[in-house]
Amino acid sequence: MPTSLTDTTTLHNGVKMPWFGLGVFKVQEGSEVIESVKAAIKNGYRSIDTAAVYKNEEGVGKGILESGVPREELFITSKVWNSDQGYESTLDAFETSLKKLGLDYLDLYLIHWPGKNKFKETWKALEKLYKDGRVRAIGVSNFKVHHLEELIKDCEIKPMVNQVEYHPHLTQKELLAFCQREGIQLEAWSPLKQGQILSDPVINQLAEKYGKSAAQIVLRWDLQSKVVTIPKSIKEQRIIENANIFDFELTAEEMQTIDGLNKDERVGPDPDDFMNGFTE
Ligand SMILES: NC(=O)c1ccc[n+]([C@@H]2O[C@H](COP(=O)([O-])OP(=O)(O)OC[C@H]3O[C@@H](n4cnc5c(N)ncnc54)[C@H](OP(=O)(O)O)[C@@H]3O)[C@@H](O)[C@H]2O)c1
Repeated sequence: MPTSLTDTTTLHNGVKMPWFGLGVFKVQEGSEVIESVKAAIKNGYRSIDTAAVYKNEEGVGKGILESGVPREELFITSKVWNSDQGYESTLDAFETSLKKLGLDYLDLYLIHWPGKNKFKETWKALEKLYKDGRVRAIGVSNFKVHHLEELIKDCEIKPMVNQVEYHPHLTQKELLAFCQREGIQLEAWSPLKQGQILSDPVINQLAEKYGKSAAQIVLRWDLQSKVVTIPKSIKEQRIIENANIFDFELTAEEMQTIDGLNKDERVGPDPDDFMNGFTE
């Protein structure tokens, strides 16, 4: 079990990835994202999750620079957007992201959504970037079991990470078990269901028992489920609060109770339906 904010999981290629990080979806480019990234790093975060489509990579890069923490101590993720899928276009998109971030390598680069026809070509580009040493680990996002099976059938390098929507209303048990069998680290996006999980009465009862917030209970459940988590907040107090989860432990029974809240309910699109952003 991770015991601090800097603890890491070891990906199947040996690269160490922090269990906990900051997400910056819907965080505005400019001072908002710069200040969020700086607040997180100042308070001990070492992992930042962005994406080309968030349109805030420049600010993330500035936040990193202004944090004063050496680049090699940080773990930076970005993602190739749907309309850039394909071999050459992915290689170009990677360079654009890197330039905006002001970095000379990424720690993790993900295919943002599977789409339908192009993820194998896109994956070949990620394999090239990995082999060329431009990125320390490569992975996918929003891949269901059938997408992973399809990719694994033909790929040279298995994805190291699958980042998916994951919270107590969408516990993804089958996908989690599949990823664990295949040595693919599962990572939770919208771990707080974009705030919607925080009013759940069961979560709040546990919060009261432990003297913690609802957010802390849910994020602790992520870690005890062996799922990397990247909650987003633009408020320094919440950035601190969310990471303050290393001083208590949910019992096995409580873990099961939270698992039992599953409703297979998403805040984001179903990956099988989500084609938005593809150029046909
Ligand atoms: N791969 C993908 O397709 C994908 C999709 C979605 C998200 N993501 C990644 O996952 C990250 C996290 O997901 P998310 O941003 O969608 O949602 P989230 O982390 O589940 O929830 C963020 C929301 O919760 C609020 N919040 C945060 N901490 C709180 C606390 N302690 N108490 C009360 N409210 C709190 C935030 O408000 P304030 O900011 O006002 O505090 C924000 O409205 C994203 O930022 C992104 O990096 C990836």
